[in-house]
Amino acid sequence: MLLRNPRSWEIAEARATPERVAIARRPLIKAALGVAATGLALPARAQSAPVTDPRFSPGRAITAEADSTTYNNYYEFGDSKDIVQQAQKLPQAPWSISLAGMVDKPRTIALEDLLTQVSLEERVYRHRCVEAWAMTVPWTGFPLTALLRIAQPTASAKYVVFETVQDRKTMPGLRQSWYPWPYIEGVTMAEAANELPFLATGMYGKKLPPQDGGPIRLLLPWKYGFKSAKAIIKITFTDQRPVNFWQAINPDEYGFWANVNPAVPHPRWSQATERLLGSDERVPTKLFNGYGEVVASLYTNLTSEKLYM
Ligand code: MTE
Repeated sequence: MLLRNPRSWEIAEARATPERVAIARRPLIKAALGVAATGLALPARAQSAPVTDPRFSPGRAITAEADSTTYNNYYEFGDSKDIVQQAQKLPQAPWSISLAGMVDKPRTIALEDLLTQVSLEERVYRHRCVEAWAMTVPWTGFPLTALLRIAQPTASAKYVVFETVQDRKTMPGLRQSWYPWPYIEGVTMAEAANELPFLATGMYGKKLPPQDGGPIRLLLPWKYGFKSAKAIIKITFTDQRPVNFWQAINPDEYGFWANVNPAVPHPRWSQATERLLGSDERVPTKLFNGYGEVVASLYTNLTSEKLYM
């Protein structure tokens, strides 16, 4: 018999799907299919929700949707946290993603075609912003590993780079020319092949709203939130380490790795605790945002790198 020790961030299966998520399930598949939640009834089979993976239970209450969807960092829309209204103007369809660089066949794929090639699932992840606020969100999407299978990177690829859309009509922040647009983020191929990186197309059982990165964003829950690039239009495989957006702005404060570590302060503030959106309660921050059992082994041979900024 195959025995398995639960990881510390797992909870009993019975507690794995909070009521809020269970209630939210019905519109989930409709959202994935692009059907309005209030639209026509779907066949019974289509109404069953994507599988919720109990291994990704957060051990912490889910943040109220009204809080996590109204307090955003999205510099393309401006420097404030209050960009919800402006972000609604960003067209969400048609949307396509270029698979570029060191891949067998560089090509551009329509998001709806991509979604027919993956299985959607739900994961509840903790998100820790470098500014020391945190939220816990049920996301719908698919693991980055599924995208890797579709993209077929060549053996020479060492990094995956994610690029955000630049829509000058709706994104006033792009006029701030001192920022090094486009918003770029990246991980190593070894990190990309880990089970945690996730491409989200939904949140709280609904379509991913534009302010949170709709129609598709990255989630890297063991890294500071700025690594989780929004509104992705291009994924490039390369052998060159990318200079990510915040690193280009301030390399003394932001680096490539940006793994969460409460013991390594930001040059201007402590990272020891975090403020939970909604309650404003302060709780201790955990190494790798509590996901160390899944990702710590990625870094054992990288002691000379600045892994935590
Ligand atoms: N992606 C883009 N394109 N532009 C951004 O400004 N901000 C990052 C990240 N992804 C950002 C981005 C930061 S700093 C954080 S903390 C998260 O998005 C915030 O995600 P949220 O607004 O959904 O909470």
